[in-house]
Amino acid sequence: MTGKRVVCVAMLLLFLLSLALFTGCTQSPNEPRGNNQEEPPQDEVTLTGAELVETRCAQCHSLDRVSREREDQDWLEHTERMRAKSPDLLTDEEAKLVLEYLQETY
Ligand code: HEC
Repeated sequence: MTGKRVVCVAMLLLFLLSLALFTGCTQSPNEPRGNNQEEPPQDEVTLTGAELVETRCAQCHSLDRVSREREDQDWLEHTERMRAKSPDLLTDEEAKLVLEYLQETY
């Protein structure tokens, strides 16, 4: 190998090394940022059972009518009966929350 050739190979290696460093530097800042800003999954249901009862069940009668001690089975019947009166009052998911809340509270 001539001296010239060694210099040439050395420069080539240097070039490749700086290329590797360069791409390494430009890529790394993106990684730590990660997905921190990710939004929490947004469900259709945003209200709790208590809030649903306050907003939806007081539309036709006062909440006095609701807030009474009842059996779990009665709550199921009442909730279904109220939904029958106003079909888009609660979604299935919301009705479940309402029923759970009423059964636990009263
Ligand atoms: C569309 C109007 C309407 C909505 C909305 C409504 N109700 Fe009623 N509710 C009535 C009417 C009218 C009565 C009385 C006649 C009857 O009992 O069916 C009643 C009666 C009741 C009773 C029986 C009260 C008693 O004296 O025995 C309960 C319990 C009740 N509602 C709970 C609820 C709950 C819980 C919700 C929410 C999920 C709700 N209601 C939403 C119209 C409504």
